[in-house]
Amino acid sequence: MDDALRERARKARAEVESGTLRGERLIDLLHDVPALERDAWTDELLGIDAPPPDVAGLPRGAVPYLPCAVDEVLAMVRDVPIRPKDRLVDLGSGLGRVLILAHLLTGASACGVEIQEPLVRRARARCEALDLDRIEFVEANAAEVDLDGTVFFLYAPFNGHLLSRVVARLEHVARRRSIVVCAVDLELRNVPWLSARKASSVSLTIYDSRAG
Ligand SMILES: C[S@@+](CC[C@H](N)C(=O)[O-])C[C@H]1O[C@@H](n2cnc3c(N)ncnc32)[C@H](O)[C@@H]1O
Repeated sequence: MDDALRERARKARAEVESGTLRGERLIDLLHDVPALERDAWTDELLGIDAPPPDVAGLPRGAVPYLPCAVDEVLAMVRDVPIRPKDRLVDLGSGLGRVLILAHLLTGASACGVEIQEPLVRRARARCEALDLDRIEFVEANAAEVDLDGTVFFLYAPFNGHLLSRVVARLEHVARRRSIVVCAVDLELRNVPWLSARKASSVSLTIYDSRAG
């Protein structure tokens, strides 16, 4: 990234910290950044450093940390669409980039569930530094905690038995209220209570829970 772009990100970070850069203006700023630089620019904006190494001994079916592209987050926010009254849950939330960005863009409250303690610690520290108190991170196996929210996000965080157990937990939530499940690079096949709709990005599928 060249110095001018880095400087623009640092100035924008000061505005994020003071609470003045949110919503549409942030979307415009992100679109002004060349697409190939957008992910790195967002990390600079949010002060997200390179991740620590993955911890040893992740459960079978758990996928190591890799952040989802910013363009997928922009597509999700627009296509769902996510509103300030929503509660967005990232299952396998990593360093928190998806949630921090989506919260700044929409005002929705957010909760990340992440199995790797060093990632949870770093994500919490970022929110504290940016003075964002409507985002929380839970250190847990997503297959073993109660879930609650209106919009759930999964960037291929796990597969096999782990994924089946999490889908069963999401069904419990969907019995109480309508939910939206957003999946990147992940197909939720043979889930009768979910209905897929097209999204503006090919990697993103949005599912609405069916009533009943
Ligand atoms: C592909 S990364 C996605 C990170 C984040 N959603 C993003 O897009 O920036 C998958 C994340 O899921 C976490 N993970 C894997 N299995 C998990 C589980 N059973 N419960 C909670 N988190 C898990 C990994 O530690 C990793 O951080």
